[in-house]
Amino acid sequence: MAEVSFNIHYEEFSSVKEMDPIDQNLIAAALDARKGSYSPYSHFQVGAALLLADGTIVKGANQENIAYPSGLCAERSAMFAAGANYPDTPMLRLAIAASDHGVLCESPASPCGACRQVMAEYQKKFGQPIQIILVGSKRIRKFQKVEDLLPFIFDSLTID
Ligand code: THU
Repeated sequence: MAEVSFNIHYEEFSSVKEMDPIDQNLIAAALDARKGSYSPYSHFQVGAALLLADGTIVKGANQENIAYPSGLCAERSAMFAAGANYPDTPMLRLAIAASDHGVLCESPASPCGACRQVMAEYQKKFGQPIQIILVGSKRIRKFQKVEDLLPFIFDSLTID
């Protein structure tokens, strides 16, 4: 028997001004993307902005449905749009910002498990880390790779 522990690393910023210009621009796009949220049931408006290797930014927003499971999170709507429209262009950074009834959350929303699994799939597809930036009004968290949000990713039928 062995005791094993994971060390998960992320950076925490108290203002967007502390971040590099690429992140600042991507965060502005994620905040703007909330305008596309269709969330009449939760009133939780989530915007996502995905930076591709050629500089393209693909936006997404959560889309709800009266049959609840038929909706889709902001992150997946951005990643699937990029996957469909720019299938050969690697995904480098993903910023996510959420508002509750129109007010940006103080602490960032954390992506659901299904979105993390989809991030993992595209990270594997392109063979390079996807950075994830979770935006709140009081704090911003930046992860360097999907493993830092999803340890023990399912990416094969066995684990070593
Ligand atoms: N949602 C997202 O779009 N992304 C997240 O990271 C968390 C949750 C959406 C799904 C649903 O439309 C609403 O937020 C409330 O759960």
